[in-house]
Amino acid sequence: MFTQFFNLKFNPFTKEVPADKLFESQNLVELNSRLMYLQKARGIGLIIGEAGTGKSSAMRKYAQSLNPALFESFYFPLSTVTVQEFYRGVALELGEEPKHKKVDLFHQIQSAIRSMYYERRVTPVIILDEIHMASNKLLEDLRLIFNFNMDSENPFILILAGQPPIRSKLTLSINHPLRQRILVKHIMSSLQKDELGEYLKTRLVFAGTHEDIFTPPSIEAIYGITSGIPRLVNSLATNCLLVACGKKQRQVDEETVYQAQSELNF
Ligand SMILES: Nc1ncnc2c1ncn2[C@@H]1O[C@H](COP(=O)(O)OP(=O)(O)OP(=O)(O)O)[C@@H](O)[C@H]1O
Ligand SMILES: [Mg+2]
Repeated sequence: MFTQFFNLKFNPFTKEVPADKLFESQNLVELNSRLMYLQKARGIGLIIGEAGTGKSSAMRKYAQSLNPALFESFYFPLSTVTVQEFYRGVALELGEEPKHKKVDLFHQIQSAIRSMYYERRVTPVIILDEIHMASNKLLEDLRLIFNFNMDSENPFILILAGQPPIRSKLTLSINHPLRQRILVKHIMSSLQKDELGEYLKTRLVFAGTHEDIFTPPSIEAIYGITSGIPRLVNSLATNCLLVACGKKQRQVDEETVYQAQSELNF
């Protein structure tokens, strides 16, 4: 097994990265400052990024960082819940028995949000992930549910995260009212070229080794193939370790990267 060969406690590039061990890229730092602003202003935030750039991971980290005395977070990925389940889920999570008629359900959600914010002094933070999968109907419904125009302040935080097709959906005139209500927007980018070496290094250190396994040319090659998208970097880097181990090489060189790439069909 390659982990033993490289003196690693586990594969450094697996999917499961604890939220506090996520790599702090410049882009994540920028996202954080936008989220901090949203935390104060409340309202709607939008995070757009290509597949695998780290949106869901960042949301996980954000939810965990919230002070539970002041915020309560709810996470809904649209790939696994239907629209009806989402509405019902929001009501349930807010401690309500979901009503059957949609109009009643919306009122119920609104009043639960109000009571959480004004009575319990806890801000609900609703994270709706994979928002690019939302229909125009759902986007319109969101505007209705999260319309608190009569209130002097926003009693909620709604974060919409998804892949770039959401952008064109939001430019449709039917979705303008929702788009106009987006207070904070962030584009999730992949790792920068000069961040990749540090990223690989911190993952390796976390898994138990301080050895410089990836040579500078191999890092260049990995960047060229993956454009720094963390999910692609992780799977290519794992394969690099496998290939290097197979060749009994303690370092990953450029050639190893291309061999690993051809095995992965990238
Ligand atoms: N900052 C980071 N540090 C370490 N690993 C990361 C980081 N960001 C993302 N990853 C890793 O990259 C992979 C993809 O991340 P994630 O699932 O969050 O992407 P996504 O943008 O939500 O993708 P999708 O659009 O397909 O849902 C995960 O396995 C995650 O562990
Ligand atoms: Mg995701």
